[in-house]
Amino acid sequence: MKVTVVGAGAVGATVANVIATKNFASEVVLVDIKEGVSEGKAMDIMQSSQLLNFDTKVTGVTNDYKATAGSQVVVVTSGMPRKPGMSREDLIGVNAKIVKSVVDQALEFSPDAIFVIISNPMDTMTYLTLKDTKLPRGRVIGQGGMLDSSRFRYFLSKALQDAGYDATPTDIDALVIGGHSDKTMVPLASLATYKSIPVKNLLSKEALDDAVAKTKVGGATLTKLLGTSAWMAPGAAAAEMVQAIALDSHKLIPSCVYLDGEYGEKDLCIGVPCLLGAKGVEKIVELDLDADEKAKFEESVQAARNTNSKLGEALK
Ligand code: LAC
Repeated sequence: MKVTVVGAGAVGATVANVIATKNFASEVVLVDIKEGVSEGKAMDIMQSSQLLNFDTKVTGVTNDYKATAGSQVVVVTSGMPRKPGMSREDLIGVNAKIVKSVVDQALEFSPDAIFVIISNPMDTMTYLTLKDTKLPRGRVIGQGGMLDSSRFRYFLSKALQDAGYDATPTDIDALVIGGHSDKTMVPLASLATYKSIPVKNLLSKEALDDAVAKTKVGGATLTKLLGTSAWMAPGAAAAEMVQAIALDSHKLIPSCVYLDGEYGEKDLCIGVPCLLGAKGVEKIVELDLDADEKAKFEESVQAARNTNSKLGEALK
């Protein structure tokens, strides 16, 4: 399968690199508007091919969408990343026009593609892509929940280590739903387990609340440390989604998708558990949330709607 990754910044290059090292795609095309950057990053990745033992062919082009023709998946990372102190929502003014333009160009050459949106504010950029392209909702998927769930696993493993358990993130199962937003994402602490044991039975309320709070600002913490937004885990999370689509695996992956009545909501894109396969979102999994989680999800929905309402202005 052929994958296009638009934007050869740190996130885009990492998506391409992780896809290549996982060796499931025949070809990855990196596109960027900055002359030579995609070509350089693709060449750098390819020079690790023999060392890391993969056969995926990675190429780079400067703003040439012809080279992306016939892609099965298009990953959109274009736009500005966060600077310390900025929220993801602050980026809408700059990124909306960029995402629209990139998606339009990519769709022209890959009319059957499934779009995976990473650009921030991601839930709103996913909604914009869906409205702009009028594609079936299963073919427009935002990446946020996979990353946030992976961060939640990390912070839970640290909390368990502090409590004396030899826990690693792979020992943990945990899910984050709602918007990809510092204030309103919803880590589902009640469902999280460590080797099948609910973590709420092993951690104090303070330790559990602390892991939830750290997960919510996981991206902002890294932006402060790095001076720009993170790329390793965001890139790996997107590659995981692309792999589920490529292999038609029907893997359960928290993803941002358009709701049409599920979770009692309509006309917005937000993070919920989905099965991803060759058609994109194959199924939305509805969870029985408790009253507190329902209220938090509702708050997240309202925040996403509020950001969506700024799209008209941002696209002017
Ligand atoms: C983050 C950005 C990529 O959460 O949204 O790190």
